[in-house]
Amino acid sequence: MGVPVISILGSPAFQSPSVGNSPARSTSAGARSKKWGSGAMGLLSGIFSGSTPARTALPRTSPAVAERINNILGIRNLEAMPAQAARAFQLASDVNARQDDFVKVIESDEVLSARVVKIANSVYFFRGTPAHDIEKAVANIGLDELRCLLSASMLRSLLASRHAARDIIWANAVSTGIICRLLSRSTKHINPGEAFLCGLLHDVGKLIMIRKGGQLYDKVLTKVSTDDVSVIDAEEAVFELNHVEVGKWVSELWHFPESARHSIALHHEPWPKNLDKFQFDHHTLVKAADLISHAIGIGHPPYMRSYGRRMDKEKQEILPRLGIGPELLDGIVTQFERLYEKEASLYQPESH
Ligand SMILES: [Fe+2]
Ligand SMILES: [Fe+2]
Repeated sequence: MGVPVISILGSPAFQSPSVGNSPARSTSAGARSKKWGSGAMGLLSGIFSGSTPARTALPRTSPAVAERINNILGIRNLEAMPAQAARAFQLASDVNARQDDFVKVIESDEVLSARVVKIANSVYFFRGTPAHDIEKAVANIGLDELRCLLSASMLRSLLASRHAARDIIWANAVSTGIICRLLSRSTKHINPGEAFLCGLLHDVGKLIMIRKGGQLYDKVLTKVSTDDVSVIDAEEAVFELNHVEVGKWVSELWHFPESARHSIALHHEPWPKNLDKFQFDHHTLVKAADLISHAIGIGHPPYMRSYGRRMDKEKQEILPRLGIGPELLDGIVTQFERLYEKEASLYQPESH
């Protein structure tokens, strides 16, 4: 049984095993699919379909910029990416990964193993017989969900922080990931696990900045809300650095997949001029998903009113050019809210 986005986005590919357990959900899915009709489905799937656009190679962060980042953020040794986390990110974007590959990564970590079994037996994934081992747990959860779950768990534990802004940044990361995944279902060339990973990681630079320079980041947030400037401009004014530079640098050090590296490096580049004819690539998908996430109100605190107004203006200008009118946006938002309610809790650590 599929979830409503199949209807919204016109792709039968999105078969989330988790949601099919609930008869109530499937009923509303059917009702919603009638409401939206096939016109919108065709439109969106046409816009998002296409072959993979050629990707230009990104220049690597120069040693001078790397040194500046190290000095400003006071980084002596950036946490080494544990092999297990690297493998999880790799699996997220590997369409050929098999169940065994996931079992191996999960089994190598006791905490993760316990968590995965617990999740498999949660109300969202329980399938009649309890999962007592990793293999059964992996089968219950399904590989699509595991891709997202693993990468989110790894990122979260890798970049733990108590900064007040962290929950907002994290919520934006997860919501952008989920919306990327929804939108990707109607492309022929972007796989959903990879789309989620690109959305999840796009603001990784902010996570590093609040971890290493938390007090200064408070000033960034104040500046954005009082001076009516962009986050990037505020970061540069306060840190002489921005989260794109930091994210790009860390994405190279941690060997993120190429599509994630591009999304991190380019998600604040201007929208392409010929957007209506543009064939989505990963970073444009991330820009669209991030915009929708902010339009929903996830990604900036409510007191940032001028920032909210700017995002609203951009939303009104850009989303119609992407073929996402108010009714379709409403459908995406409804679909997103259902997934977010379920997934945001799965991506929290046990102690949270
Ligand atoms: Fe960003
Ligand atoms: Fe963002």
